[in-house]
Amino acid sequence: MTTKTIFMAAAAVLAFSTAAPMSAQAQTVRVAIDAARPGPVVDRNIFGQFAEHLGYGIYGGVWVGPDSPIPNVRGMRTDVVTALKALKVPNVRWPGGCFADEYHWRDGIGPASERKPGINANWGDAVEPNTFGTHEFMDFVNQIGTEAYLSVNVGSGTVKEASDWLGYMTSPTTTALGKERAANGHPEPYKVKYLGIGNEAWGCGGSMTPEFYADQMKLYARYVRNFNPAQKGPEAMKRIAVGPDGAKTEYTEAVMKAWKDKTWAWDLEGLSLHNYTVGGWPPHLPSTGFGEADYATLIKETLGMDNLIATHGAIMDKYDPEKKVALVVDEWGAWLAPAPGTNPGFLIQQNTMRDAVLAAVNINIFARHADRVRMANIAQMVNVLQAMILTDGPKMVLTPTYHVFRMYTPFQDATFLPAAYDAGTYTAGGVTLPRVDAAAVKTKDGQVWLAVTNIDPNKPAEIVPEVAGRRARAATGEVLTAPNVNSHNTFDAPNTVAPKPISAQARGGQLTLRLPPKSVTVVRLDF
Ligand code: AHR
Repeated sequence: MTTKTIFMAAAAVLAFSTAAPMSAQAQTVRVAIDAARPGPVVDRNIFGQFAEHLGYGIYGGVWVGPDSPIPNVRGMRTDVVTALKALKVPNVRWPGGCFADEYHWRDGIGPASERKPGINANWGDAVEPNTFGTHEFMDFVNQIGTEAYLSVNVGSGTVKEASDWLGYMTSPTTTALGKERAANGHPEPYKVKYLGIGNEAWGCGGSMTPEFYADQMKLYARYVRNFNPAQKGPEAMKRIAVGPDGAKTEYTEAVMKAWKDKTWAWDLEGLSLHNYTVGGWPPHLPSTGFGEADYATLIKETLGMDNLIATHGAIMDKYDPEKKVALVVDEWGAWLAPAPGTNPGFLIQQNTMRDAVLAAVNINIFARHADRVRMANIAQMVNVLQAMILTDGPKMVLTPTYHVFRMYTPFQDATFLPAAYDAGTYTAGGVTLPRVDAAAVKTKDGQVWLAVTNIDPNKPAEIVPEVAGRRARAATGEVLTAPNVNSHNTFDAPNTVAPKPISAQARGGQLTLRLPPKSVTVVRLDF
């Protein structure tokens, strides 16, 4: 359902409802949840992560090596692994990004003495030691309990190199590649659930015309095979092609047309969309110390994701009305100016209450488009762009975005429920936004969960959830808010932006949730 239809439906709902008295400044918003018209499943994969060899995203952030004084399991930092497990991360995209199209997997296998250091030309010309390679990534995947989403090198690699990589990872030990994997310590074939066929082929991934890419993509979709016997049937590897760069539609058209005309010899299961919230390229807006106008501008841009998905979704519908191919938003999030004093090639930025609002608004948009958007990956997991976690040597801090992802875990694989409401408006710096943004789901065991973001940084909101035909008697969950939209957590003050419990009981037959300004709330409704 688009924002517009939500508002239209909400207007109708309001016409029949009696407005509750407003407290001091709060606006009362009745959220009418239609449990009788369940929508599609909100695929848990929309909560995916992206971990690129970029700055401290892997080295320092995930991998410290087995000999590090920082507590680790086989080189993986224990604090980071523990924190990520709580997010129930559904998949991790690796090794890039732009890095993927210059990654040669053979440089990162075998004993330490055989690893081949190179230059990470995309990201600050840092030395890439290749100590974190295929086996380390798969160990990390297993440690946090997630699925692997491997991006293969289309830009500077070959079909054979990519095909050998998957052969190495998934073949039985009766083959030469399987034997080699076993000799490197892993006789069992690895499970590779998702395969990305290149990255941003329109940009850092080769500056290819859409038609040239589509031809390349067919070769990779055919020959990069997964031989793991456990991946036959429903567990079969899903292939994701490069798709649009933001609003540009050429790749959407070309790849979807190729898919429609495909032969028996190849297939695709996903089309990637990359879109960052930037505030104008090159990224220049500060990640801390900003004012309300910058806040409103970035949230407005974030809300544009809805239209973007609708645009590409309409093109996909033309070629694929049955929605077999998923739209995979595998790079999204805020891309801001590098934190002062940091290497600009390392894309280090702070993460504030604004990022929390931005994340929640995006997740709600993905949930509303759950029929087509079945996977998404925030950029990026640790220490890069809109990260979940920041580290500095042995220190670690969880960001406001981390808290939003954890609070939303009940949404994973739950069924979308239409929610109609009159959001009202909030204006700052000449930018007008809906004051609140809400989404509801029903879990497999029948619980109804409601997520509401109060975008307005100045006024509280009173939310009255109304589930047709049922009377909610209580709500219980968590609320994330902060003193300011630019409040953030630091290693010295890690809990400035931290979730707190929230609950409400119905009075006089009405349940009212009082939400603070600039807040994200996720609650279970009890009946
Ligand atoms: O996430 C940082 C970079 O942004 C990725 O490497 C690239 O795919 C995109 O342009």
